[in-house]
Amino acid sequence: MEFLKVPDHVAIVMDGNGRWAKMRNLPRLSGHNAGMKALKEIVKRSSALGIKHLTVYAFSTENWKRSGEEVGGIFKILVYYVDKELSELHENNVKVSVLGNYRKLPEEAVKKLEEALEKTKDNTGLQFHIALNYGSRGEILNAVRSMASDITSGKLKQEQITEEILSRYLYTRDIPDPDLVIRTSGEKRLSNFLLWQSAYSEFVFSDAYWPDFTPERLEEAIGEYSKRVRRFGGINEG
Ligand code: IPE
Ligand code: IPE
Ligand code: MG
Repeated sequence: MEFLKVPDHVAIVMDGNGRWAKMRNLPRLSGHNAGMKALKEIVKRSSALGIKHLTVYAFSTENWKRSGEEVGGIFKILVYYVDKELSELHENNVKVSVLGNYRKLPEEAVKKLEEALEKTKDNTGLQFHIALNYGSRGEILNAVRSMASDITSGKLKQEQITEEILSRYLYTRDIPDPDLVIRTSGEKRLSNFLLWQSAYSEFVFSDAYWPDFTPERLEEAIGEYSKRVRRFGGINEG
């Protein structure tokens, strides 16, 4: 296999579960279930490749618009898989974190997620960030509100505000910006994912529906990333 320049941080919009199911005449929830199985393999391969941060978009602030049945089902599937996979994640030294206001999720999901956060908090391997009830505009809005309140209370001075400081108020405060953002299912948009953080990310779009996104496809995406020249506004040397 060709030489892979493995990115430190890969972020994925896991899209297409519904269409995957529809194509098979299955209920949408079967698609979400198959999506979780695909995610499990992607986490394993990410670890093996030496990726430091993997962020996955699992549920957006806009996804509440879906039926109660689908939303409830998605969280049940999430609870089932966290429960089933937690010991293996832990054995593999994976550290789980959540981006977004996950405390607004159903109680059972909040409890399971907190168990995962607590159990894996000292792990030093792959940092696996799950974006749940996440929306980038809301994240930035919260940051601005917290900064305003810190200015009022004297904790922060207006003249101290920099890009660096604003970044510290985001859910991603301890995470480097994504090097590579992947979206599956052929859609080519961010859908309110990491708007601030992806300013200089490379994008790879896959036509595969998320449940069909295999570790081999992840490596293909990384292969494509490896060929990209990142300039960050500068001039490429050599
Ligand atoms: C992504 O798959 C998972 C979530 C948004 C929760 P979708 O459910 O959006 O699948 P499509 O886009 O309808 O195929
Ligand atoms: C983005 O997918 C959110 C997740 C993958 C969790 P959507 O399916 O919600 O995005 P749109 O509605 O097609 O933009
Ligand atoms: Mg979708």
